[in-house]
Amino acid sequence: MKFVLISAFVAAGVLATGAAQASPELSKSAGCAKCHEIDKKKKGPAYKDSAAKYKGKADAEATIFKAITDANGDHPEMKASPEDTKTMIKWILTL
Ligand code: HEC
Repeated sequence: MKFVLISAFVAAGVLATGAAQASPELSKSAGCAKCHEIDKKKKGPAYKDSAAKYKGKADAEATIFKAITDANGDHPEMKASPEDTKTMIKWILTL
């Protein structure tokens, strides 16, 4: 019972914080932060640079998703779920 209550609180917390603040956390939990930062180049490009590159393109979300999940592409293999990856891309495009 305790667990159910705690889960409900955690879920409410995530909803209350909203996507914009949940995503730096997601970047860490999904493992993206190992190679990416918001405004600094690390192993991979800064999220802001990627956002600028794709800004205004109608199919930006789908293009990025394909680019970073394609096993034959340039992007290193990652363990993030497709849902987390999509949430991350949506957020990156708002930066
Ligand atoms: C092991 C290191 C590593 C991890 C983990 C990683 N990336 Fe990357 N990422 C890279 C590198 C290196 C590039 C540059 C090569 C490329 O564009 O494919 C890149 C490129 C990108 C780009 C730019 C693609 C483009 O076409 O301009 C985006 C957006 C991106 N990553 C998002 C993510 C997201 C979201 C995650 C987590 C779900 C993630 N990355 C996890 C290393 C990583």
